[in-house]
Amino acid sequence: MLDIRSLEKSFGAKRAVQGVSFTLEKGTVLGFLGPNGAGKSTTMRMIAGVLEPDAGDALINGKSIVSHRRQAQAALGYLPEGAPLYDDMTPPEFLNFMAAARKIERSKRKDAVERAIADARITTVAGQRIGSLSKGYRRRVGLAGAILHDPPVLLLDEPTDGLDPNQKRAVRALIARMAPTKAILISTHTLTEVPAMCTRAIVVDRGIIVADGTPEELAKKSDDGSLEGAFMRLTDQAEANAR
Ligand SMILES: Nc1ncnc2c1ncn2[C@@H]1O[C@H](COP(=O)(O)OP(=O)(O)O)[C@@H](O)[C@H]1O
Ligand SMILES: [Mg+2]
Repeated sequence: MLDIRSLEKSFGAKRAVQGVSFTLEKGTVLGFLGPNGAGKSTTMRMIAGVLEPDAGDALINGKSIVSHRRQAQAALGYLPEGAPLYDDMTPPEFLNFMAAARKIERSKRKDAVERAIADARITTVAGQRIGSLSKGYRRRVGLAGAILHDPPVLLLDEPTDGLDPNQKRAVRALIARMAPTKAILISTHTLTEVPAMCTRAIVVDRGIIVADGTPEELAKKSDDGSLEGAFMRLTDQAEANAR
């Protein structure tokens, strides 16, 4: 469903993404892990078609984000980092606006908005302005926007960042419900949630993939059998290689 081919991006002299390739199948929740500045958001922005790659391509359901951007984006839901939203709108107003922008047929918009509101569990705040909502609810409104057109591929950039434990659990439950029918890529710099949420994990550091496997396989790369230990070791190695 997702075929990432040698994506590269530099900002001036900074090589943010240095040839990232992987594929992602339906039913997989892939954790995209790495320290701050590793290139996770930059990679996701290129996949989502909001940042042009210097080289490489991303095929979404077989469509190139570089040469067939609109068609590729139709199969994709993207939650950007920090999820900028429209503070003066209520969630249904925002979602109707998104549905129009997404060119969902007028006759299908009402159902799509209602389904997204139910799936993201934001029914109770539907009458409030987005600007007045807690961070957890705002993030879930962003998620509702990402799943509005029921895309087969989801890119979620730090979806649980800044949420309290209950809100994190709610977002994790939503991801688990969607997982069987979609291919989901989730970036995070916090490791504790990975075993609960992801069936596979990629570790990226300085724009390079340094590991790819199940959370259990990654944990075996440490001395103490922990994912944290493996992460430290892998990112230390990347630091040593960069010198
Ligand atoms: N628009 C930009 N202009 C300049 N540098 C950028 C820009 N976006 C990202 N970077 C740099 O690219 C690197 C990777 O950033 P990012 O992809 O946001 O990392 P992550 O999401 O893994 O924390 C960082 O060094 C960051 O400072
Ligand atoms: Mg980021």
